[in-house]
Amino acid sequence: MKVLIVYAHPNPQSFNHAILESFTKGLAEAGHTYEVVDLYAIKFNPCLSGEDIGMFMQGKVPDDVRDQQEKVSQANGLVFIHPVWWIGLPAMLKGWFDRVFSMGFAYGYDEKTGDFQGLLKNQKALIINTAAANEEEAKTMGWADVPKKIEGDFMLKFTGIGNVQHVLFFNVIKTDDATRKKYLEKARDLGKTF
Ligand SMILES: Cc1cc2nc3c(=O)[nH]c(=O)nc-3n(C[C@H](O)[C@H](O)[C@H](O)COP(=O)(O)O)c2cc1C
Repeated sequence: MKVLIVYAHPNPQSFNHAILESFTKGLAEAGHTYEVVDLYAIKFNPCLSGEDIGMFMQGKVPDDVRDQQEKVSQANGLVFIHPVWWIGLPAMLKGWFDRVFSMGFAYGYDEKTGDFQGLLKNQKALIINTAAANEEEAKTMGWADVPKKIEGDFMLKFTGIGNVQHVLFFNVIKTDDATRKKYLEKARDLGKTF
């Protein structure tokens, strides 16, 4: 399977980067081919501008957006690896969705019926998240399943990808090394079984 990984963390020493490395190791072991889009490394512009919207309305697409859309179209599977920031996606990745998952590419709108239609043909998607909170804290505060709902159940399923898996590693800062090692093993397994 050809896999596109969209990775959003600014620090190459981060735990998220370790997850990326374990996950891609698993993918390679399973014989998948993959490409990583490291959004901070490529300095992706995450700001959907008036100029972008003007181009979309004329059926045109900014060059950097077209590059990303081509990568999405060519992949069988999409994977998103990032920390939970303010109960959701880092602005960098949110902006990638704002610009790359544009109307006419990721979804269509029927003006007569008012219906939206997902246009993406990717077979499956996987989201891997980390959070500082432990699971009980996140449940008590009411947001434990919010990252899954927003990015998985709404954004990805809305664009037509029916098979979306979500994994959230809680408590990654305070937990012990043995647990972090287990998380990395799980990330590798997720790559192997993707
Ligand atoms: C801007 C920002 C917002 C954050 N918001 C949350 C949050 O809402 N919930 C949470 O549990 N952790 C939150 N965190 C903590 C990160 O999720 C945590 O630092 C990260 O998962 C650790 O992985 P890393 O070492 O790869 O950065 C936040 C961190 C930052 C920098």
